[in-house]
Amino acid sequence: MTQPFIAPSLLAADFANLQRDLELINRSEADYLHFDVMDGEFVPNISFGFPILDAVRKHCQKPLDVHLMITQPDRYIDAFAEGGASVIHVHYEACTHLHRTLTHIREMGCRAGVALNPHTPVTGLEDVLEQIDVILIMSVNPGFGGQSFIPNTLPKIAKLKQMLTANRSSALIEVDGGVGPKNAASLLDAGADILVAGSSVFGASDPLEAIRQLKNSRQP
Ligand code: DX5
Ligand code: ZN
Repeated sequence: MTQPFIAPSLLAADFANLQRDLELINRSEADYLHFDVMDGEFVPNISFGFPILDAVRKHCQKPLDVHLMITQPDRYIDAFAEGGASVIHVHYEACTHLHRTLTHIREMGCRAGVALNPHTPVTGLEDVLEQIDVILIMSVNPGFGGQSFIPNTLPKIAKLKQMLTANRSSALIEVDGGVGPKNAASLLDAGADILVAGSSVFGASDPLEAIRQLKNSRQP
């Protein structure tokens, strides 16, 4: 039984104790660190940028999964690639020339990800599947941690999985927002490969155990 990949979201960490929280992630079974960049325009919130990325890269041993919730993401792809990103997700809704943007992410040596807001249909990706390594399904409206999971995400993931199979695509499905022990198994059943978890990890009394549980949440 294959285990899912787990990506704790830095947004829910304690920024006054960033090194401590990064060391915790290093010791954990997490596969990535999810790094949420918000510009106050694409989403109604501002998070963090390059100074934090530099600090994180110095202390974090896990690959960085960068989620750009910003308009015109092309302006910053080189900087995030050079700053240490392994995966760069741009939002479908923020890209006029998605094929070009995804091609450029790969040219910069990163894996190319596309994030879809809850209202964006998966079918819009059908003609660029060859350019995509990961599809990030937003299960909340992006902008804030700690929101409630939107239930329609489950059939949406199932539909995406069917589309990927029909097109013989090996793109991975990642889910972000309101993910925790209550819905992890059903998300994996629907076809998810990577689970992003912010508050359910850093808000847990034992974050290492919370990550271990998510990692082992696939039902036999
Ligand atoms: C939301 C961010 C998420 C967020 C998830 O806009 O993209 O990555 O950190 O946080 P939780 O898991 O608390 O919903
Ligand atoms: Zn995110």
